[in-house]
Amino acid sequence: MAQQGNFKSPSRMVALGGEASLSSSGAITSGKPREQGLGGIDFERRSFLGRVVGGIGAAVAVSTLYPVIKYIIPPTITTKSVNELLVGKAAEIPENTGKIFQFNKDKVIVINDNGKLTACSAVCTHLGCVVHWDNEQNLIFCPCHGAKYKQTGEIISGPQPLPLATFKVKVVGEDLIIAKA
Ligand code: FES
Repeated sequence: MAQQGNFKSPSRMVALGGEASLSSSGAITSGKPREQGLGGIDFERRSFLGRVVGGIGAAVAVSTLYPVIKYIIPPTITTKSVNELLVGKAAEIPENTGKIFQFNKDKVIVINDNGKLTACSAVCTHLGCVVHWDNEQNLIFCPCHGAKYKQTGEIISGPQPLPLATFKVKVVGEDLIIAKA
């Protein structure tokens, strides 16, 4: 097949180094290596510019993605755990009623059964539904699958595997205070 272009032309050889020559067979008999012959092209500058462009691209990508990721992933809110907490007024729980309060990360049901105050977790140990005080049956009842607990959190009947965790409760003056058991 015939050679295309000026790959082996003498003028091209001169441009590449000025010392190249062709033999009668057309082979290059002398000349500079290619890296030395392309003196007009600065490969180090190209490499540097490539890194600068890459760095700018990475900075743009990070500044664009960061707010998106911050929006998707909610911040972790750390709340300090306390041993004792004033949750409200004693008057909020009249006799024969129960009310749920937030205590640290727990929902706690405080029950006033004829003046006797007790407190236990308001989260059913079966599948985590929130329980309530059933004054007619005089027990804590879970509406999801019918779990029944005593006022003190012990199991009466139902599918729940464990009793309700208990907490301390006291009234100081008019204040209602829940504490870890
Ligand atoms: S979650 Fe309470 S009985 Fe199932």
